[in-house]
Amino acid sequence: MKTIALVTGASGGLGREFTRLLCAEAVDEVWAVARGEQKLNALRGKLGEKVVVLAMDLTQPDALQKLTERLQQSGAQVRYLVNNAGLARMAPCQNFDSAEIKKTVMLNCTVPAQLCNVCLPYMGPGSRILTISSAASFQPIAYLALYAASKAFERYYTRALHLELKDTGITATTVCPGWVKTELLWQTHDGKEIQFPGITEAGPVAAKALQDAKRGRAMSVFGWYAVYLRLQAKLLPTGGVMALWAHGVAPYVKQ
Ligand SMILES: NC(=O)c1ccc[n+]([C@@H]2O[C@H](COP(=O)([O-])OP(=O)(O)OC[C@H]3O[C@@H](n4cnc5c(N)ncnc54)[C@H](OP(=O)(O)O)[C@@H]3O)[C@@H](O)[C@H]2O)c1
Repeated sequence: MKTIALVTGASGGLGREFTRLLCAEAVDEVWAVARGEQKLNALRGKLGEKVVVLAMDLTQPDALQKLTERLQQSGAQVRYLVNNAGLARMAPCQNFDSAEIKKTVMLNCTVPAQLCNVCLPYMGPGSRILTISSAASFQPIAYLALYAASKAFERYYTRALHLELKDTGITATTVCPGWVKTELLWQTHDGKEIQFPGITEAGPVAAKALQDAKRGRAMSVFGWYAVYLRLQAKLLPTGGVMALWAHGVAPYVKQ
């Protein structure tokens, strides 16, 4: 039977790294999903024919149906689902209109939950779900409120799913990186380079996440900074942790 890995947000950042790593795994195809067809084709050019380009906007109503039909037709087993596509913007809550709120919740919350249900009937013992949450999920964050709340949804949802799946041999791993050098982050503010504390490259984050998923771990936290943020959120009062975050984020808020 054909085996596949499915990666959302494969055209850049962490998703590109997951696609690269999964091409080296024992799967027949890596389905690479994102809107940017050119970038996906370039990735296929680089990584080879194992990459199957599926250019689509996951927030469109028919996207999940298309993926479901594709899976049905292929009769493949899903060995990996990487729920990675995500959106973020730093700004005060009142600067988000309804369309942006809906789109962010759709991409960061609804689609990952739906995709688990789309793929689970095609998974078996040894299959792995990875959902890319964030260290932003450890506490509410002023000026990143929508993003942090959406990432908390992903973390809670995936941890609960991990427990529900415990007798199936399938696991669901929540991945919680700190800052990662990708296009999600803007680089400058008022002409000055933004200092993201503890920022890391995408490759090692993806590699650890995949290793943790293969070990069946519920959580994957890469690097000292994300571990520090997790401990801070566990040990300090929430209001204090939020004040620290607000102090760090406020100078970079785009109005
Ligand atoms: N960078 C960080 O500091 C950081 C930290 C913690 C967690 N994360 C999480 O890591 C994940 C990946 O982010 P990244 O940092 O690698 O960001 P990125 O470089 O901006 O990648 C985001 C990916 O999502 C895709 N995407 C965006 N909207 C989409 C849509 N409507 N339909 C389909 N695909 C869509 C983008 O491709 P197209 O534009 O081609 O569609 C792109 O491939 C996200 O869930 C993010 O929250 C990032």
